[in-house]
Amino acid sequence: MPRKIIIDTDPGQDDAVAILLALASPEEIDLLGITAVAGNVPLALTQENARKTCEVAGRPEVRVFAGCDRPLAHSLVTAEHVHGKTGLDGPDLPAPTMPLQQAHGVDFLIRTLRDNPAGTVTLCPLGPLTNIATALQQAPDIAPRIKEIVLMGGAYFEVGNITPAAEFNIYVDPEAAEIVFKSGVPLTVMPLDVTHKVLVTPARSAAFRALGTEPGRIVADWTDFFERFDKEKYGSDGAPLHDPTVIAYLIRPELFTGRHINVEIETRSDLTRGMTVADWWRVTDRAPNAMFMGDVDADGFFSLLTERIGRL
Ligand code: RIB
Ligand code: CA
Repeated sequence: MPRKIIIDTDPGQDDAVAILLALASPEEIDLLGITAVAGNVPLALTQENARKTCEVAGRPEVRVFAGCDRPLAHSLVTAEHVHGKTGLDGPDLPAPTMPLQQAHGVDFLIRTLRDNPAGTVTLCPLGPLTNIATALQQAPDIAPRIKEIVLMGGAYFEVGNITPAAEFNIYVDPEAAEIVFKSGVPLTVMPLDVTHKVLVTPARSAAFRALGTEPGRIVADWTDFFERFDKEKYGSDGAPLHDPTVIAYLIRPELFTGRHINVEIETRSDLTRGMTVADWWRVTDRAPNAMFMGDVDADGFFSLLTERIGRL
C-alpha cells in the first residue's frame, strides 16, 4: 500500500531530485500534492520550479500549490549563491505549461489532513517550515492527524551551512521550526550530518548520465551546477543530495541510522539563530521529540536513486 505524502518544498535542484524520486516510486509513494514555500529562491520561482520538475517527470497532472512567501517573523533569506538566480540553474528547462492550483498551499495541507483518515498522511518538508507551521497554527486539530513529518533540516556534528551555527532551512524560519519541533507530531529529521555523506561524486554523476534518458541528464546537469558551493566551502567531492534523503527514507528506511533524541531550536539569539540543539549524548532530561539521523548507506542510497530516476 503506497504511503500518502505531501511534499513541501523550495526547489532548489536537490528538492527537484527528491520530487523526481517520489514520482518514480508509485509502489511506495502516493504523492497527494506539492506545496511550494519561499526559501532557496522567492515563492514565485519555487512554485514554478516545482511545476517544471513535474514536467521533467512527465507528470503534468500533479497538483502544485503556492504557500507562504515569507517566514513567520524574519525577512526572507534566499540562496541564489548555491542554486543560481532561478533556483534551478544548470539545464535550460521550458516554462511550465501545467497549471498552478488556485488554493493556498496551507489550505491544501489542512484540507488534505482533515479529508484523509487520521494517521495516514505523511508530510515531507524540504525547505523552511513556514507552510507547515502556519497550517498547525491555523488548524491545531491537524496535529494528531499527521502520520509523521519527515524533513530535511538542521545539523549537529556538521553545524551550520548558512551561518556557523545553523542549517539553511531552519535558519530561514526558526520560529516555524520551533512550532514543528514542539508540535508533538512524530518527527524524522535528515540533518546535514547525513546529507553531507551523500555526495554526487563524478562516478555517481556519470551513472545518472549513463541512464541515457532526459531525466538522467537533467539530474546530472542540476548537480553539476549546485555542487560548486559545497566544493568551494567544504572541499566536497560533489553536491550533497540533501532533500532526496527524505524520500529515500520512505522507500528504504534501513539505509539510515540515528537516535530518538530531544531537538530544540534557537530562536532568540542572533548569533545562533536557527541552531538545532540536538541532545545527541542525552545529557539533559528534555523529552525526545525527533528521530535525528546520523548515518546513511551512501552507496545504497545512490543505487536506489539512480535505478528510480532511470524509470522516468
Ligand atoms: O541546507 C540544505 C537545505 O537548504 C536543502 O533543503 C536545500 O534545498 C536548501 O533548501
Ligand atoms: Ca530544499
